[in-house]
Amino acid sequence: MTIIVTGGAGFIGSNFIHEWFSNENEDLINIDCLTYAGNLENLKVLNENKLYHFYKNRIGDKSDIEKILNRFNPRAIINFAAESHVDKSIYGPESFFKTNVMETLSLLEVTKNYYDQMPEISKKKFKFIHISTDEVFGSLQLNEKPFKESNPYLPNSPYAASKAASDHLVRSFNKTHKLPCIISNCSNNYGPFQYPEKLIPLVINNALNLKNLPVYGKGNQIRDWLHVKDHCKAIITILEDGAPSETYNIGGSCEMENIEVIKIICNSLDNLRPRKDKKKYEDLIKFVSDRPGHDLRYAINSDKIMKELKWKPKIKFSDGINDTIEWYLNSSEWLMNVLDKSYDIWMKKNYNKR
Ligand code: NAD
Ligand code: DAU
Repeated sequence: MTIIVTGGAGFIGSNFIHEWFSNENEDLINIDCLTYAGNLENLKVLNENKLYHFYKNRIGDKSDIEKILNRFNPRAIINFAAESHVDKSIYGPESFFKTNVMETLSLLEVTKNYYDQMPEISKKKFKFIHISTDEVFGSLQLNEKPFKESNPYLPNSPYAASKAASDHLVRSFNKTHKLPCIISNCSNNYGPFQYPEKLIPLVINNALNLKNLPVYGKGNQIRDWLHVKDHCKAIITILEDGAPSETYNIGGSCEMENIEVIKIICNSLDNLRPRKDKKKYEDLIKFVSDRPGHDLRYAINSDKIMKELKWKPKIKFSDGINDTIEWYLNSSEWLMNVLDKSYDIWMKKNYNKR
């Protein structure tokens, strides 16, 4: 048997592939076009693994994807491929709508054609799992209850709007064409291999280079942090036991203000890699202008996946963040290489202005 993963060279996808091969003996095909966020270095330990196959393709490359499906006959497709950075979507939304909407549509069409010609017995087992985000639900006030699967979609950033649109497309292929789709909506992930444009790796990388640590607004926005390994285990649980047509919320039940997260990282670095000038890393904190449309709070109610599929997060933030910081401390070459890759010039200028 075989599964297909798209976007497997990115942060969550590559962690998923490592998790997969730590337990499974099934072929896995990774389809990724390697944008600035995709990095084959993340998977180099698998180069000799005969069960791992890589195709450099966009999910919108219809005829190539068709050929891959017909060659490998997968029992499931897990769609991680996306443009994923909110700041980038604010200043250049087109690529978000191209990949997250139009190319997801193309992937769905090809998958539907593949599914339609499958033998009935294989149809019963097939799943298309679409990896989505809590950001589609919009922003919570401090006194509101965490997002449930039944919350309305109220996306606020172009990124969130593109993910909401792709979720709607997936839902429509399930309802209209009976394609067995499942959507998972997860909260903020952290862990190894995350591109240093996102808060946690950006703060670690800037601190190590003694650069400012930009805090948007007052730093009082709240995110619900989940270690990427726990997310990947949830996806494997959904792959094996999740029910087609369902959606599952996945969260860490670990709400923290951004400023708190930044201070935890600074304190940890003070212990692990004290500054030569004897100053504290916190001295690098700089409050900068806020992200336009900045969502105040995300929080996930994971009761459904916990009760129905018996998944729960296992990694405590205090342990996970220390392991993550240590991983970045030991991965200076990886950091240098990913930052050397063609990263949007506009964003670089924008960060400098902040
Ligand atoms: P990422 O940006 O690190 O990786 C995205 C990967 O997709 C990269 O390898 C990139 O090369 C590839 N890709 C982009 N466009 C493609 C295309 N058109 N065709 C083929 N490959 C393409 O993203 P991530 O943080 O790993 O997120 C993965 C998925 O999980 C996304 O769908 C994202 O919306 C979702 N998600 C992320 C988080 C988070 O905290 N990072 C939380 C919830 C959900
Ligand atoms: O909630 C899930 C989402 O989490 C995913 O769908 C997205 O793909 C992922 O990027 C993430 O979105 P966020 O916008 O929450 O993550 P980001 O790391 O960009 O920012 C986290 C918080 O930190 C947010 O409130 C903005 C703030 N921030 C971010 C950066 C990069 C700062 O204060 N300073 C910064 O430099």
